[in-house]
Amino acid sequence: MPGKNDPIWQALASHRTRLADKALVQLFREDPDRARRLRMEAAGITLDYSKNLVTDETLNLFSRLIEANVLPHQIQQMVDGAEVNPTERRPALHTLLRTQPGKAPARLRAEAEAITDALVRIEQMANDIRSGHWAGAGGTPITDILHLGIGGSNLGPEMVSAALETAHDRAVNCHYVANVDGHHIDRVLNQLNPRSTLLVIASKSFSTQETLLNAKTARAWLANAVGETDLAHHLIAVTGNSEAASRFGVAPANALPMWDWVGGRFSLWSAVGITTAIAFGFRTFRALLDGAAAMDLHFKEAPWPDNLPMMLALLGIWYSNFYDAESCAVMPYDHGLRLLPNHLQQLDMESNGKSVDQKGKPIDYNTGPIVWGGEGSNGQHAFLQLLHQGTRLVPVDFILPLRSHHNRTEHHDWLVANCLAQSQALMTGRAALQDDGASAHRALPGNHPSNMILVDRITPETLGAIIAMYEHKVFCQAMIWHINPFDQWGVELGKEIGDAIFASFDNETDEDRFDPSTRLLIKQYLAKRKK
Ligand code: F6P
Repeated sequence: MPGKNDPIWQALASHRTRLADKALVQLFREDPDRARRLRMEAAGITLDYSKNLVTDETLNLFSRLIEANVLPHQIQQMVDGAEVNPTERRPALHTLLRTQPGKAPARLRAEAEAITDALVRIEQMANDIRSGHWAGAGGTPITDILHLGIGGSNLGPEMVSAALETAHDRAVNCHYVANVDGHHIDRVLNQLNPRSTLLVIASKSFSTQETLLNAKTARAWLANAVGETDLAHHLIAVTGNSEAASRFGVAPANALPMWDWVGGRFSLWSAVGITTAIAFGFRTFRALLDGAAAMDLHFKEAPWPDNLPMMLALLGIWYSNFYDAESCAVMPYDHGLRLLPNHLQQLDMESNGKSVDQKGKPIDYNTGPIVWGGEGSNGQHAFLQLLHQGTRLVPVDFILPLRSHHNRTEHHDWLVANCLAQSQALMTGRAALQDDGASAHRALPGNHPSNMILVDRITPETLGAIIAMYEHKVFCQAMIWHINPFDQWGVELGKEIGDAIFASFDNETDEDRFDPSTRLLIKQYLAKRKK
């Protein structure tokens, strides 16, 4: 069990105390080979982890943590379809979604066949829509997809679309609406022609309030223009609740499956990726899956310390549990990856934001960090000040493609220079020139750790590998913290209270249900409410 009574945990804690005297720059001075040694490559990704507050002894202690928690066995259990989500009595089969047909574990043959069937349907639909064979009302070719979904049904696919649009011609434009805020759907609907618009409703449960209301609004907008008879050509659903989708008006042939063994935050690999497949072509979607599969293979087979997701996981645990780092930042130096921090935020925080162990016992150590970030170099002119001179330790993952998809060399040179400069500045800092207050304001303490994650270019393959790398990092951390990363019960209470408050707007309800502050806020809202 991790925590202060665990001997490995204790060894790590005393090692951390000893290491406190050594600055990162000193570690480089002591080992001229450090930059070359502390790096690795997998699935098209290079990880330089030399600018971390670790020594060979730290890595040895990490290996004891890995052994004690039988990580390789846990990984095997997950990919083999064991019930790794005990509170929902389910396996977590996102790795199966990207496995090449014929390579699935024998015991998962039925699930693998269902995945292959879904992929065949996705490919057919994507080809038909892109070729104009599947047209909207009156034979109008589909030019726009309105993808409605929230959480995992939105963050992954929207991030993938943004990442791929720089390199791939989009045959069809995609618009994503998640928020129930009517301003968003209004603005998007106002830009679109209903006759050439396809609605993709992505909701595993088909009961998520925000998605259903947006879908109802968009459906009414469509029906108003094309009529109820032609509506079916404009509706696709991706859901585990096909009855509800059918009641909504989605033709059975246009409903794609979402299985209970795929969590929302892993669903971009499932039929939720239909939007990616339509917009960029099925081959691009398959390449994304293949990139992730290459990372899966590495994760399953590479031993410590050459296992990239494991290394990221252990470094994260090092700072969360032994340096009391409350957060970690992700800074992609790539405009296309600007939505990656949002996706990783859900992936990590919904998975590892837990405070009881797998058996339901309270735990006394930190679990998932607050994940945040934003694209570089913009962040340099905003939040990086706090990382350089603030009082908190925030480890950073820099993500940098070495080549761009444009020909503006000077732009890319600057992007690269900025990224490399930030990681060096965080580490080296700058001493005060003189011993006075004015100089102190200009000094940077340095010694801030960061990872440098390089890819040759952002392609579907490297993007798939990056996303899978973070999924596996989160999984390893959960296994070491002894928590279940595959459920998210914490989000339910807010939904229930939201339902009750919504119901109270038009009906007298038992006011005792709400606390005094909330009661007063409801009253204030009702006084302003548009009827
Ligand atoms: O509220 C959390 C959550 O359940 C996420 O886990 C999920 O990604 C999202 O809502 C959307 O759920 P659904 O796909 O069922 O609409």
